Amino acid sequence: MNKILAFNWKMNPTTRREVDSLVSVLAEAVGHTHDAQIVVFPPTLYISYLQQKQADMPLYVELGAQDISAEANGAFTGQISAQMLADMSIPYTLIGHSETRKYQHVTNEVVGQSVHQSLAAGVIPMICIGYTHHSQDHSIDYDALKEEIEAAVIGNEELLRMKSCVIAYEPIWAIGTGITADPEMIQTVMIFIKRTLRDLLGEIEIPLLYGGSINAGNSTDFVDIQELDGFLVGGASLKADQIPELVRVMG
Ligand code: PGA
Repeated sequence: MNKILAFNWKMNPTTRREVDSLVSVLAEAVGHTHDAQIVVFPPTLYISYLQQKQADMPLYVELGAQDISAEANGAFTGQISAQMLADMSIPYTLIGHSETRKYQHVTNEVVGQSVHQSLAAGVIPMICIGYTHHSQDHSIDYDALKEEIEAAVIGNEELLRMKSCVIAYEPIWAIGTGITADPEMIQTVMIFIKRTLRDLLGEIEIPLLYGGSINAGNSTDFVDIQELDGFLVGGASLKADQIPELVRVMG
């Protein structure tokens, strides 16, 4: 399976000038031929801007939205639908990121519905899990993890077997804190996620990512974990001095 390096820009940067400079660093880092798939989740408003740039210059990254609605269309002010992404040729969406769970009150149930919308529209959901309130002490709450996985999967089994999806495990205490989970712990969790998915879906290959304070310096500690297919990176994905090394580490 090819590695995936996903960049979540969150609500950054705030000007097109800064987008331009990030894009030139990215374009140079990714180059023309690269084995890993690089997926960028910019603020929604900048997705078309990046698509225009891709028409003008070699920028070999895939694009995605940071969230989609649990509904197909209708009176949901401020939201965008999976079908809109498909229509705009935007291949990916994040679903259930900790910040949407916290600030937009996205629940496990909503995650399940959004996953359904995304798969049905042919958009690849990158489903984020690992966000229990109990895990602030850096322990792993396997019951809560299982609930998050079940909420995303149950009811979507047929679609998940037919279409692509990605799961990103991000321990809540590792996001934006500079503290990463240790590699043994990540491997244990990856094995648990794989087993849970197998119980729900049978034999299936779903790429698994780790996210939470990954940067150019520490990514090498994790890249060889056999069960891990890549990283979801926030803060470091906005730093020109981090991007080339992150891309290089992915091989
Ligand atoms: P971080 O964010 O890399 O800044 O910890 C990761 C994320 O929120 O996906």
